[in-house]
Amino acid sequence: MKIFSFLICLSFISKASELTLQNVKMKEASLWLQQEAVIAEKLLIQNISPEGTQAGVVIASPQKENPNYYRHWVRDSAITMQVILKLWSENKLTTKVNHYSHLLQDYVQFSRQNQIRASLGEPIFEVNGAPFLGPWGRPQNDGPAFRAVVLTEWAEHLLDLGETEYVKNNLYKTELPAQSIIKADLEYVASTWWQPCFDLWEEVKAEHFYTKMVQRKALLTGAHLARRLNDPAAARWYELQAQYLENSLTEFADTNPDYIVASLRRTEGLDSKNSNLDISVILGVLHGSYDDFFKASKPQVIKTFEKLNRVFQNLYSINQTKSQFAPALGRYPEDIYAGTNFNGGNPWVLATLAAAEYCYKVAAEVSIKSFKQSELWIKRGDEFVQRVQYHANPDGSLSEQIDRYTGFMTSARDLTWNYSAVLTTLRARHQSEVLLALSKSNIKQGNK
Ligand code: NOJ
Ligand code: NOJ
Repeated sequence: MKIFSFLICLSFISKASELTLQNVKMKEASLWLQQEAVIAEKLLIQNISPEGTQAGVVIASPQKENPNYYRHWVRDSAITMQVILKLWSENKLTTKVNHYSHLLQDYVQFSRQNQIRASLGEPIFEVNGAPFLGPWGRPQNDGPAFRAVVLTEWAEHLLDLGETEYVKNNLYKTELPAQSIIKADLEYVASTWWQPCFDLWEEVKAEHFYTKMVQRKALLTGAHLARRLNDPAAARWYELQAQYLENSLTEFADTNPDYIVASLRRTEGLDSKNSNLDISVILGVLHGSYDDFFKASKPQVIKTFEKLNRVFQNLYSINQTKSQFAPALGRYPEDIYAGTNFNGGNPWVLATLAAAEYCYKVAAEVSIKSFKQSELWIKRGDEFVQRVQYHANPDGSLSEQIDRYTGFMTSARDLTWNYSAVLTTLRARHQSEVLLALSKSNIKQGNK
């Protein structure tokens, strides 16, 4: 009798949690992603210059304690402003375009102050613009590189529109020592890329695949802008450093036959990442891809992605349920940071969405070669989206992590980076579908 009521009770508990975790019947991934993108854009914009902060601040999360993410991280902000830049360039509504343009201008001003007030590898600023002074892993050199990528892309757009004065006065001046935001970032990247720094997870001081991929993109896109603004010597210098970076990046793929390793030549910081397997490699491909160099469909990248899938599939108990979804992925297998404690790592929303975005990117790249392959990659991307959908809060808000046992959202709430990831994932899905449709129609026309 006792056992019987215990069983009833158990089944009741699991049913109840299923009902709260799942909107009874799950929507199709593409539909959910579109609806989630509307929510994500709203919540993302709420995290830009909220009341009481300086204009241009992007808080990592509104959460002020346990953990305190109510600060401006250079990396998270650049990731976010890249999304704002896309919204700015794609929107047709003047009021919206003006709003996004103001957000970008505030970001430029705030970031230029950051550059003046602290060394360029400084990872975090307070919401009043002062550098964060607590003990931390510094420098983190992906930040200035990512910022340069975003602002260079904006500068190129503005030049196309004839806004040359704004670009020359606020974004790129040729003079040295650098007096402008993009030039200062590029000079910093070009002269320090070979030095060890802390990784994007702020834990290991070494050389990193992620950081170097973003640095390479910054230097190559920066060289194009420099040439356009009549700074050819700088352009050649940036391109030369990008060339060296390529040689250095190849080493991460040659070190281990099974996957691209995340870091080399550690000098300080965490020493427990024995596998050197990390979602940051996939993020490096997403954030740093520029041409065919380490593009998503490169076999070594695909191998790394598959390895991450296998390892995280077995690591987190929530991945043993709902096997129709792809596994929720974490940062790296040895992770122990749970936001409020160090009792064990969890899957992360931004890592799982990166996997979805990655699948869509592969789908786009292989669409010319094989429709079938492309369709399969889109389907796989959708399975990662469904994993996030299943664990998201019912109102669509997303925290940093997914509890590996209960499946509920945990750690910093409303993580800005997550909302950026929703929007970039939707974009990637859309692009893959467009490319696939185009390839199909080309074949049809060819057959006529
Ligand atoms: C806070 C960092 O942001 C996070 O990435 C890291 O895991 C913990 N500190 C522990 O170092
Ligand atoms: C911890 C993450 O590891 C790091 O990448 C991020 O910049 C900060 N949290 C802020 O979101």
